[in-house]
Parts: sequence; C-alpha cells; structure tokens
Amino acid sequence: MKKLMIFSALSALAFVLSYCGTSKKAVKQTVKMNYDLNVKAILEADCAPCHFPAKGGKKHPLDSYAEVSKNIDDILRRVQLNPDERGFMPRDHSKLSDSTINILKQWKDDGMPEN
Ligand code: HEC
Repeated sequence: MKKLMIFSALSALAFVLSYCGTSKKAVKQTVKMNYDLNVKAILEADCAPCHFPAKGGKKHPLDSYAEVSKNIDDILRRVQLNPDERGFMPRDHSKLSDSTINILKQWKDDGMPEN
C-alpha cells in the first residue's frame, strides 16, 4: 500500500514536470519577433537618416521589409563588429546594445515574419 502511494506521488510529480516543460516551450514559440513591431523601430532609430531616402539618406535603403530581410546577414555582421573595425554600423554612432542585436538575431531565427 505504501509503495503504491509513493508510486502515485512520483507519477503525479512526473506529470507536473513534463507539463511545465511543454508549456514553457509553447510560450517561447508564440513570442516571435516581427518586422513591423520589433525591427522597423530599431532601424528607424539607429540607421536613419543615412539609410532612409525619405529622410535624405544617400546610402543603400534599409527602409522597407524587402530591403531589410534581403540584407539581414550583412546587417547582423556589421552591427556585431567593433566600432573601430572597417564596415561597422551604425557609422558614427555607438554600438547597438546586446539586447537590440539579439532582437535582430531572433527575428532572423524566427524566419523574418513581416507582421
Ligand atoms: C551616419 C550614416 C550611417 C548610419 C547611421 C548607418 N550607416 Fe550603414 N552605411 C553608411 C555608409 C557611408 C555606408 C557605405 C560604406 C560601407 O559600406 O561601409 C553604409 C553601408 C551599409 C551597408 C552596406 C550596404 C550596401 O550594400 O552598400 C549596410 C548593410 C549598412 N550600412 C547597415 C547599417 C545599419 C544596419 C545601420 C543601423 C544599425 C546603419 N547602417 C547605420 C552610413 C551609415
């Protein structure tokens, strides 16, 4: 009888633990980064005016979903350089924070949804 109780207690525990595991995964998957909500504002704040023709920028435009998604690898490479390295972006500004860079990385990993 005692053995049976221990067994049921353990199964209950195993059930609870596996349930927690799945729910955590489910939460992570539903929070995806997207261009309209997460990425656009970063570029508008840090890459303008140079990459925004409407604001007078003369550099390669990074003002639309199409351009940013097409150039994401070069963008990620450049923002992770150090400011004294050739090709560093945003030029003449300080390096983006790790959390900002992580949003861009996660957006790429999420498959770059537009919205
Ligand atoms: C002060 C102006 C300025 C700002 C701000 C700036 N850039 Fe640039 N960017 C440049 C210049 C100048 C070049 C061309 C020289 C070069 O390729 O390094 C360039 C080139 C690039 C290129 C290569 C595009 C191509 O095909 O020629 C990418 C990608 C890029 N920048 C990304 C960014 C990102 C991402 C940001 C914001 C986080 C940013 N830049 C902010 C001036 C700027």
